[in-house]
Amino acid sequence: MNILIVTGSISEQSNNKKIARWFEKNYNDKVDIVQFPLASIPMYNMDIENDPPAEIVEMRRLFREADGVVMITPEYNSFIPGVLKNMLDWASRGEIALKNKLVFVLGGSTGRFGTLLAQTGLKVLLQTVGVGARVFSRQIQVDRVHEKFTDDGDCLDASTEKYLKRGMDEFIAALG
Ligand SMILES: Cc1cc2nc3c(=O)[nH]c(=O)nc-3n(C[C@H](O)[C@H](O)[C@H](O)COP(=O)(O)O)c2cc1C
Repeated sequence: MNILIVTGSISEQSNNKKIARWFEKNYNDKVDIVQFPLASIPMYNMDIENDPPAEIVEMRRLFREADGVVMITPEYNSFIPGVLKNMLDWASRGEIALKNKLVFVLGGSTGRFGTLLAQTGLKVLLQTVGVGARVFSRQIQVDRVHEKFTDDGDCLDASTEKYLKRGMDEFIAALG
């Protein structure tokens, strides 16, 4: 089973990338985990969409081959980061990359609400006619994320780890 992890941050120091590493460490013996190269996605431009750059062709291939998508979003100014919105705009055009894909939404912020507002916006976006994805019923908000993961993706908080495991186990079961 192929699980594509899209992390909505292009920073090497990203706290959400640490969550992505946790998934890779804990699940790569059970499923095939692929990390989506968000930093490679160019800015959406209608002028080039009929002859899209190689990175967009590759993006569509990655989504086509994914059985399910885990989308880990940061929260920037109460919404998802622009880099993630930009990728979803590409995904809504031409061959609809996320059509009917089941997406497990989660995210971590340094604040107290753990990307709740960003996730609420992301769910709306994913379910627009253009993007056409399906949202998995369980979501996870990781608050004070900077205190809960090492750079290598080890989780320092037992209760966060418990929720991540339950969420991912249920997601894999839902994908059949
Ligand atoms: C431009 C910007 C806006 C932010 N806005 C929010 C916000 O609205 N809510 C929040 O909880 N944290 C906010 N933060 C703090 C982020 O939660 C924190 O920087 C987090 O580590 C970002 O995720 P990342 O490290 O994966 O990029 C903001 C950070 C930046 C850089």
